[in-house]
Amino acid sequence: MQNILVTGGCGFIGTNFIYYMLSNAGFNGRIINVDKLTYAGNPDNLVAAEKKYVKRYIFEKVDICDTRAMADIFDRYAVDAICNFAAESHVDRSIIEPDAFIKTNIEGTFRLLELARGTKHQLKLFHHVSTDEVYGSLGMNGYFTEHTPYRPNSPYSASKASSDHLVRAYFKTYGLPVTISNCSNNYGPYQFPEKMIPLMILNALEGKPLPVYGDGRNVRDWLFVTDHCQAIWKIMQAGKRGEMYNIGGQCEMANIDLVGRICDLLDDMVPGAAASPRRNLITFVEDRPGHDKRYAIDFSKLTDELGWMPQETFESGIRKTIEWYLDHQAWVDQIKNGAHYQRWMKQQYGENQKPLE
Ligand code: NAD
Ligand code: TYD
Repeated sequence: MQNILVTGGCGFIGTNFIYYMLSNAGFNGRIINVDKLTYAGNPDNLVAAEKKYVKRYIFEKVDICDTRAMADIFDRYAVDAICNFAAESHVDRSIIEPDAFIKTNIEGTFRLLELARGTKHQLKLFHHVSTDEVYGSLGMNGYFTEHTPYRPNSPYSASKASSDHLVRAYFKTYGLPVTISNCSNNYGPYQFPEKMIPLMILNALEGKPLPVYGDGRNVRDWLFVTDHCQAIWKIMQAGKRGEMYNIGGQCEMANIDLVGRICDLLDDMVPGAAASPRRNLITFVEDRPGHDKRYAIDFSKLTDELGWMPQETFESGIRKTIEWYLDHQAWVDQIKNGAHYQRWMKQQYGENQKPLE
């Protein structure tokens, strides 16, 4: 793999993956980043990569659904591998406006697969980045394995499940070399602050309410983003073609416990706030419709076959994440001051977003 097409590289995980690939992964080839730059994509994330890796990093603002533009990119850069991150990724948005999820996640993946099929002889791999949410919801016991049947519950997870099926079908039908990874909830630098962890960090820093859905007992498994990037690259290099691999953090937590830990850590790292202790900011709000109760991952296949284990503990990962948001105030302000974000926050959380007295 010398010319890897990364789609959605200006988003959260894509940005982290590109930095990892250019600096720490032992990869010497080129990364061609194709991103449509939706509200979630930020080209500024990769300005440092553009400067430092002039010959090895290329950015193209293109929609993956635009077959003609994508075909041109395949040709121009002799793409020989694909890592497909591009997606609409927020469950709450998929509940309100599912159209873009169907378009990008399903049709976009389909269009990419068709192009990949056309260049099959030079294409070494189509890696598809997916989620554990395709499996649906667990009760208090058990784990998702690669054999768990797909039972997606949100428009987001249903669209990802659909794309996974297409990827698998292209392996079975056309012999396209594919791999799929299904990962648990990520956190870390560059995550858009509509997702749980950055939203809670930023609200807590501003003394705003921390909106916990339902009773806060829903459980997620959390993985630091760099660990996810390492797992993807391992699978791309040595994963069996046609197979899927679960990725998880061995870090299950109820939402209410997670928010409490963020509050305690912020009290410690940024003391003296008016709203201290920050746990007082926790506010239970109406539950998300169809809210999956629990996700938990058995990733023993990835450990046994490829020797991957997460490196970061939650303690070290969440501290690094908070430090990153504290150190990147301009990045945060650019998003927070944007009309799009303000509209979303008002629509989702109403007037509740004012700092508490
Ligand atoms: P994100 O929303 O932060 O980034 C998505 C990126 O895709 C953005 O840069 C956006 O501009 C781009 N994009 C959207 N539509 C596009 C289109 N039509 N053409 C080109 N680019 C387009 O998402 P993320 O959290 O970085 O997630 C990346 C991938 O990882 C997604 O496929 C997601 O399903 C998967 N995933 C995410 C998590 C998580 O916890 N965030 C966990 C498991 C899997
Ligand atoms: P999220 O980050 O949206 O990821 P996902 O829905 O893909 O798991 O949410 C993580 C958990 O946090 C999920 O159970 C929903 C919950 N949540 C809240 O309680 N309040 C919020 O404001 C958000 C965004 C999420």
